Amino acid sequence: MNPAKELLNTSLLLSLLVFRFCISLDTISPNKPFKDGDILVSKEETFALGFFSPGNSSRRYVGIWYNKVSEQTVVWVANRDKPLNDASGVLSINSHGNLVLTNNLSTPIWSTNASVSSTNNSMAQLLDSGNLVLALRDSQRVIWQSFDYPTNTMLPFAKLGLDRRTGLNRYLTSWKSKDDPGTGYCSYGIYPNGYPQLFLYEGRTPLWRGGSWTGRRWSGAPVRITNFVSPSFVDNQDEVTTMSGLINPKVLTRLVLDESGAVERLTWNNNKWVTFWSAPKDCDMYGECGPNSYCDPYDPNKFQCTCLPGFEPMSTHDWNMRDGSGGCVRRQGASTCRSKEGFVKLARVKVPDTSIARVNMSLSLKECEQECLRNCSCTAYSSADETRGGIGCLSWHGDLVDIRTFANAGQDLYIRVDAVVLAQYAKKNGLMQSKSMVAILESPRELDGSTRNSDLPFFNLSIIIAATDNFSDANKLGQGGFGSVYKGLLDNQKEIAVKRLSKYSGQGIEEFKNEVTIIAKLQHRNLVRILGYCIQGEEKMLIYEYLPNKSLNFFIFDETKRSLLYWEKRFEIICGVARGLLYLHQDSRLRIIHRDLKASNVLLDNALNPKIADFGMARIVGVDQIEANTNRVVGTYGYMSPEYAMHGLFSVKSDVYNFGILLLEIITGKKNNAYYHEGPSSNLIGHVWDLWREDKAMEIVDSSLGDQYANEISRCIQIGLLCVQEYATNRPTMSTVVLMLGNDTSLPYPKQPAFILKSTYNSRNRSISEGANSVNEVTITMIDAR
Ligand SMILES: *[C@@H]1O[C@H](CO)[C@@H](O)[C@H](O)[C@H]1NC(C)=O
Ligand SMILES: *[C@@H]1O[C@H](CO)[C@@H](O)[C@H](O)[C@H]1NC(C)=O
Ligand SMILES: *[C@@H]1O[C@H](CO)[C@@H](O)[C@H](O)[C@H]1NC(C)=O
Ligand SMILES: *[C@@H]1O[C@H](CO)[C@@H](O)[C@H](O)[C@H]1NC(C)=O
Ligand SMILES: *[C@@H]1O[C@H](CO)[C@@H](O)[C@H](O)[C@H]1NC(C)=O
Ligand SMILES: *[C@@H]1O[C@H](CO)[C@@H](O)[C@H](O)[C@H]1NC(C)=O
Ligand SMILES: *[C@@H]1O[C@H](CO)[C@@H](O)[C@H](O)[C@H]1NC(C)=O
Ligand SMILES: *[C@@H]1O[C@H](CO)[C@@H](O)[C@H](O)[C@H]1NC(C)=O
Ligand SMILES: *[C@@H]1O[C@H](CO)[C@@H](O)[C@H](O)[C@H]1NC(C)=O
Ligand SMILES: *[C@@H]1O[C@H](CO)[C@@H](O)[C@H](O)[C@H]1NC(C)=O
Ligand SMILES: *[C@@H]1O[C@H](CO)[C@@H](O)[C@H](O)[C@H]1NC(C)=O
Repeated sequence: MNPAKELLNTSLLLSLLVFRFCISLDTISPNKPFKDGDILVSKEETFALGFFSPGNSSRRYVGIWYNKVSEQTVVWVANRDKPLNDASGVLSINSHGNLVLTNNLSTPIWSTNASVSSTNNSMAQLLDSGNLVLALRDSQRVIWQSFDYPTNTMLPFAKLGLDRRTGLNRYLTSWKSKDDPGTGYCSYGIYPNGYPQLFLYEGRTPLWRGGSWTGRRWSGAPVRITNFVSPSFVDNQDEVTTMSGLINPKVLTRLVLDESGAVERLTWNNNKWVTFWSAPKDCDMYGECGPNSYCDPYDPNKFQCTCLPGFEPMSTHDWNMRDGSGGCVRRQGASTCRSKEGFVKLARVKVPDTSIARVNMSLSLKECEQECLRNCSCTAYSSADETRGGIGCLSWHGDLVDIRTFANAGQDLYIRVDAVVLAQYAKKNGLMQSKSMVAILESPRELDGSTRNSDLPFFNLSIIIAATDNFSDANKLGQGGFGSVYKGLLDNQKEIAVKRLSKYSGQGIEEFKNEVTIIAKLQHRNLVRILGYCIQGEEKMLIYEYLPNKSLNFFIFDETKRSLLYWEKRFEIICGVARGLLYLHQDSRLRIIHRDLKASNVLLDNALNPKIADFGMARIVGVDQIEANTNRVVGTYGYMSPEYAMHGLFSVKSDVYNFGILLLEIITGKKNNAYYHEGPSSNLIGHVWDLWREDKAMEIVDSSLGDQYANEISRCIQIGLLCVQEYATNRPTMSTVVLMLGNDTSLPYPKQPAFILKSTYNSRNRSISEGANSVNEVTITMIDAR
C-alpha cells in the first residue's frame, strides 16, 4: 500500500477518533483544561457547554446551550458580568478543586467557590438536565452546581427558591440585552415573607405576582394542566423551593425571564421555540387596581377595576377617568365588627398578596371562617390548599392587594362584609339569609367564558393508556350509553376520569373538537370540569377532573352512607344541582339541555358538593340539540319525562322533570325506577303524590332526616311535585325553581304528575335495562321510541 496514503488514512482515523473523543466528553478534570473552541456535550447529547458570543457581540462567555436545537439557545452563563475580549479563555479545575475561568494572563475572572477539603479531587460534569456539576471524584458528592446559580432560565428539575440551611436563594435575573447576558434589572423568584409567593421584580418594584402555591399550581399563573411539565412546591424547615418536573422527557422546555421583563414558558416544536404561556398579561401588573378592588380583564367595554363588596372608590373622579390605582376604601357608614357580619365569596380569583397574610395549615375552611370572624382585624380568608379538600387557612388583616379574576381558574376568596352588605348579596343570590353567613358573588365571567381563546389541552393517547393501565377493568368506573368511564393517574400523580366514547358517533374530528371546546367553556362550580380531550384514529375521549366520592346514588340509596347526608347537606345538594342546571339552561349562547340528569350523574367532591356530569353529551357526540323530534331517545328509565319518552320531544322542561324526580329521590332515599308500592300508584312519584295530597308526605321521607325540618322538607317535596307535572308547560323553569328554593313565599299547588312508568313501559321492561337490582346506575339507556 502506498505509504503516503496509509499515513493519510491513519491520520484520518486518528482525527476521527479524536473528534469522537471530543464530542463524547462530558467532564472537565484537573489535568484536562478546556479552551475556547472546545465543546463539552452531555451524555445523551442534550446540552453542550462551551465559549460563545451572544447576538452581535464579539465578547466571549462560557455558557450552556441546547446541543440539538438549531437556534443557539443559551440557558446558563458562567461569567455573565465578566466577559472575555478574545478567545484566550481557559476553563480548568484549580489546585483547590474549584472550576475557574482564566484569561490570557492566567488571571481568574470567574470561579466556583465550593469549599473542597482535599485538593485535586474534583471534576466538572455536564449532565443531560443541563446542570453543570462539580463533584468529588471519590464520593461523587456534588459540591457546586450551575442549577444553584441560574441566570435567566429555569430548566426542568432546577429549583428556584431558598435553601434555609445555607441561605442560598436561587432566582432568575434577566440579561441586559440580547447581546449582553450581564445581570439585568428584572428578577423572578420566591419571596418567603408571610405565605411564600413567586414575584417578578424590576429593580425593587414588584411587576407581577405569580402568587402563592395552591396545592397544584401558583395562584397567579393558572396554567391548565399540561402533559409535559408538572410544577411542585416544598416549604419546610430546610427549604422553600419550587421545581418543574418533566413528564415527557422528550419535550424540550424552559422557563425564561427575558430582557423585557416577561416570564415565558417555551417549548421546542417544529424547529422553533413556541410560547406555551407567558406573564404578565392584562390585569397582571402588581396592584393595578389599587387596594381592596379586583381587576377583571374580560370585558373590553367595561373599566377593569371593581371595588370589593362593601368598598367604594377612593376617588370617584379617578375611577371615572379609568384610573384605578388609588383603589377602594370601606363604604361610608360601614360598621365592621358588629353582629350579623359575614362574608361574600368572590369566586375564581387570584387571592391577594400573601406576604402579610397569616396561614394555619391545620384549620378547615369552616374553622377559617370562624377564626376570621372572631378577629376584628381580619378582612378576608381563603383556603390555602385547594387539593386537600380545602384544608389550610389563609387570612388577611388589612388592605387586600392585587386581586384579579380568571375565566376558568382561580380560588374562592371570602371577603368580610357588614350585615347590610351581606343582606344585599344574599338577596341577589336568592339565598335564605338565616342559612348562611356566606353570600356568593360569582366573578363576572361565570356566565360567559367564551371570548377567550381556548387552550383545552390535548392528551396523547399513549398518556391516557399509561394513565388508565390500557383501560383496564380495574380502572373502570362505569359504563354508559355514550361510552365507558375510567379512572386514570397521570405521571404527576393527578387523578383524572377518562370518558371513552363509543364509536358510533358520526362526527368528524374537527366538529368533535369544536364541540368539546365549547362545552369545556361551561364552567360552574356545580358542573364537572373538563380538563382535556384525546382523539386518535377511532378513539375519542374526554378527560375530566376525578371526584373520589363518586356519585349521589352511592350515598342516598345506601343504608349506611345516607346518614352522611343530613338535611342541610341534602338541601345544599338540591340547590347546587338546581344552580348547575340553571346555568346550563340559561347560558344564552348555548342553552344546553342535559337530557340525562339523574343521581348517578351528580358527582360529589370532597366536601360533598354536587357537580353535574355528562352535560352537553348530545352536542359532543353529534345528536341534534334544539327542541326536536328525534328518532332516538337518550335517557334513563325512571327519569324520562312523558313527552320525551313517548314522542322523543325534549326541552328544558324535560330536564326540569328529571330534576323533580332527582329531588324526590334525594328526599326519600328511594329510587323512582325501583320503587314498588302496593296501591293505586306503583312508582315513587305517584306514591309521593298520593301521600302529599293526604298531607302525609312526611311518611315517605328518609327517616334519617329527622322531624325538625318538616316544614322545609315538605316545601321541597312540593317543589319536586311541581317539577314532575305531566304537562311541560305547567312545570316551572329552573330559574323559578332556584327562586322557590331560595325564598319562603307560597308555592302553587301542583297538578297531577305523569305516571308514565306504569302506563307505558310495563310491557316493555325487558328491552330496558332496569335499575331494580342491577348496578347500571351509570347507564344511559338507549331505546327506540317507535
Ligand atoms: C445584530 O445587528 C443587526 C444589524 O445591525 C440587527 O439587525 C440585529 O437585530 C442585531 N441582533 C441582535 C441580537 O442584537
Ligand atoms: C490579553 O488580552 C488583552 C485584551 O483582551 C490585551 O490587551 C493583552 O495584550 C493580552 N495579553 C497577552 C499576554 O496576550
Ligand atoms: C462565591 O461566593 C460569594 C460570597 O460567598 C458569592 O457572592 C458569589 O456569588 C459566589 N460566586 C459563585 C460563582 O459561586
Ligand atoms: C492530580 O491528579 C492528576 C491525575 O488525576 C495527577 O496527574 C496530578 O499529578 C495530581 N496533582 C496533584 C497536585 O496531586
Ligand atoms: C392553628 O390553629 C390551631 C387550632 O385553632 C391552633 O391550635 C394552632 O396553634 C394554630 N397554629 C398556628 C401556627 O397559629
Ligand atoms: C387578630 O389578628 C392580628 C393579626 O394577625 C393579631 O395581631 C391579633 O392578636 C389578633 N387578635 C385576636 C384577638 O386574636
Ligand atoms: C403520541 O405519542 C407518540 C409516542 O410518544 C408519538 O409518536 C405520537 O406522535 C404522539 N401523537 C400525537 C398526536 O402527538
Ligand atoms: C391495549 O390493549 C389492546 C387490546 O385490549 C391491545 O391491542 C394494545 O396492544 C394494548 N396497548 C398497550 C400499549 O398495551
Ligand atoms: C370523600 O373522599 C375523600 C378522599 O377520598 C375521603 O377522605 C372522604 O372520606 C370521602 N368522604 C365521604 C363522605 O365519603
Ligand atoms: C320568591 O319566589 C317567587 C316564586 O318564584 C317569586 O315570584 C318572588 O319574587 C320571590 N320573592 C323574593 C323576595 O325573591
Ligand atoms: C316487567 O317487570 C315486572 C317487575 O320486575 C315483572 O313482574 C313483569 O313480569 C315484567 N313484564 C314483562 C313483560 O317482562
